[in-house]
Amino acid sequence: MNRPKIVVLGTGGTLAGSSHSRSDNVGYTAATLSISQLLGEIDALRDLPLVTEQVAQIDSKDMDAAVWTRLAQRCAHWLAQDDIQGIVVTHGTDTLEETASLLQALLAPVKPVVLTCAMRPATALAPDGPQNIVDAIAVARWPGARGVVAVCAGAIHGPLDVRKTHTYRLDAFSSGDAGPLGYVEEGGVRLLRSWPQPDASSHSAMAALADGGDWPWVEIVSSHGGADGRAVQALVAAGVRGLVVAGTGNGTIHHLLEAALRKAQQQGVRVVRSTRCAQGVVLGHADGSFESAGGLSPVKARLALQLELLATATAPPARAG
Ligand code: SIN
Repeated sequence: MNRPKIVVLGTGGTLAGSSHSRSDNVGYTAATLSISQLLGEIDALRDLPLVTEQVAQIDSKDMDAAVWTRLAQRCAHWLAQDDIQGIVVTHGTDTLEETASLLQALLAPVKPVVLTCAMRPATALAPDGPQNIVDAIAVARWPGARGVVAVCAGAIHGPLDVRKTHTYRLDAFSSGDAGPLGYVEEGGVRLLRSWPQPDASSHSAMAALADGGDWPWVEIVSSHGGADGRAVQALVAAGVRGLVVAGTGNGTIHHLLEAALRKAQQQGVRVVRSTRCAQGVVLGHADGSFESAGGLSPVKARLALQLELLATATAPPARAG
């Protein structure tokens, strides 16, 4: 019988990066080596049934809606094949958390989609990419694994909690208060919490993307000392559809910025309140003025709002009666 396969989708990042000097871990160029070149260097993968596809070749700071759409569509394509057990996506660390939350929301997969990355380029003296790839493939092959997760430095993180929290260390990701979903150790998974569960709202935005729907324009504005409403006024005048405010503390907002956001809301712009704090959730504001992002970080709240606007823009009109 044919063994189920794992698909490895390459998108670039430091994991696929190279430098002229093996001892230089910061002055490299991201996304120079193909996914087949990278896997070809890893002996431990030689006998595994893998399929590779280069979906993109970018530094993930340059991630955009076109690459996200293509990645989601390629994941959906492969997940639908009976002989595919799961997917691994190699990705830059800088926007990995955004892609993780987006793919979970769009795909809600019953098979595993495992994002992995590296903090050092492939040419480093001691690159971390090969071990992360081996670990990610072990997770994708693990019986019962499902949903979108991120694997880095031996930890398995859920798509909503994971955040890049360090600029340099190999263990650059954290799941904050929630902690990791588990660990991958010598090819085995030690699961501490359940795999990500699907969210009922997922598929309408995916259908809208398949229909060629445009991603609505949603921006993040930050509250800080000296903030005022001018950026919001400019964004509204330019046609922004949604605003996520990264508030101070429990989502509090400078009064001048808040006044501008209220006005934007009256003009039909959706406003979501999140926090600059790296941990915790935005707890209810008595006046109920703006929707709360809950535990989503500003960048993830931005994507969630985009998907919501995308799905509602293309939803069929409600039937009367
Ligand atoms: C990137 O995000 O593509 C570059 C940085 C990294 O992968 O660590």
